[in-house]
Amino acid sequence: MDPKGTTVQPLFSSKSGPLKGSIRVPGDKSISHRALIMGALTVGETTINGLLEGEDVLCTAAALCHLGAQVIEPPGNGRDRQWRVIGRGIGGLSEASCNIDMGNSGTGARLLMGVVATQPITTVFTGDWSLSKRPMARVTDPLREMGANIVARSGGKLPITLTGTAHPLPITWQSKVPSAQVKSAILFAGLNTPGTTCVIEASQTRDHSERLLQHFGAAVSIEPGPDGSTLTKIQGYPELEPQAVNVPGDISSAAFPLVATLLSKNSVLVIENVGINPLRTGLLDTLKEMGAEIKILNTRSSGGEPVADLAVKSSQLTAVNVPASRAPSMIDEYPVLAIAAALADGTTVMHGLSELRVKESDRLAAVAEGLTACGVQVEINEDSLTVHGSGEAQPKGGITIQTHLDHRIAMSFLILGLACEKPVAVDDGAIIQTSFPGFVDLMNGLGAKITVDGP
Ligand code: S3P
Repeated sequence: MDPKGTTVQPLFSSKSGPLKGSIRVPGDKSISHRALIMGALTVGETTINGLLEGEDVLCTAAALCHLGAQVIEPPGNGRDRQWRVIGRGIGGLSEASCNIDMGNSGTGARLLMGVVATQPITTVFTGDWSLSKRPMARVTDPLREMGANIVARSGGKLPITLTGTAHPLPITWQSKVPSAQVKSAILFAGLNTPGTTCVIEASQTRDHSERLLQHFGAAVSIEPGPDGSTLTKIQGYPELEPQAVNVPGDISSAAFPLVATLLSKNSVLVIENVGINPLRTGLLDTLKEMGAEIKILNTRSSGGEPVADLAVKSSQLTAVNVPASRAPSMIDEYPVLAIAAALADGTTVMHGLSELRVKESDRLAAVAEGLTACGVQVEINEDSLTVHGSGEAQPKGGITIQTHLDHRIAMSFLILGLACEKPVAVDDGAIIQTSFPGFVDLMNGLGAKITVDGP
């Protein structure tokens, strides 16, 4: 245990030979949370294949069970496990008799607040050390306008007690931050609200909720608004029908073996069945601009989401300027992009990163501190990050990175360790379970050297 109240598992990664193989990564985290929620809000049995069985998603599954839905885990192991959700229908959830612990999951916490905001039940949301530091007013403000009564710890943080309203009001919410979690919370609240609930986003964020809501039969429309904004509207009280959902592999998880392959000499990798929703593929665009050899093969549609296989080869990358407008489509990929930039030729500048400050950790600070400690020159300038790449030279490494209960910081620096002179350690690899169970085995199966014992 550490002061954050969690069990830690240090991990070490060392310079590796070529990475080779053909893999699948675990299911998309965003879609997995939403598929469970949609199943719980639909009367009847929804089936989910490819669900991410990571801690974040399992927290959402447990929460929905506390709220009266049934989530049935399939027997056995393996890739083709089919989860079943027996839902209670819109407005049909019941009050939980205990606190709802959302662990490390901002997505689960925020989406579920939307779900319970328009039902007359009281829910107490708690979370771990990291989640309890994250801003929640972005979600509680619109939900209060819809009629929910919400008592938060100072600064609008968890724990939060939310009493939903029996008489919700439809709102038109102009989102102050680019956040799919905020949009989705309002859309889920809008399901049990009369009339039309509307969210206006200055830049469109991931639309997995919209796609799944439509898949289940809700009337959701997405329209362009003034100045490049997007209006998303939902009609209350739709007739939802249970569905089969196929969750594609998570592009945010694929990012780690993908960047590892680019950075390791003589490496070739195929990642099958990855979700390539255009609102999520900013990393692929950026890496291609940097000269990465990435081919998108066998593009197809699966359950309303575009899916493809990614074929990747080692590539010497060159620096780029990443515009702020790309941030919503690669918000979770900046830590691993910064690792790629550290080994690129030239100076990469990434703009518009303010939201990185409020992720599972302050990712802007964590990336800058970690890279500096590994011998890479970086600068933070307001909300932009500059990384001076080492080109063919290898960063020194030889240090332990503080992960601050952040899975993506842990995985990013383990990838950097594969290309450093000396091994890189992370203080806690256990947190990787939140989004990428099996990460170490999968990477080592490709030829990486990630160990629990120091080298
Ligand atoms: C997510 C949205 C993003 C992302 C998170 C998952 C989602 O967060 O960082 O990992 O599933 O809606 P924001 O909505 O806060 O940008």
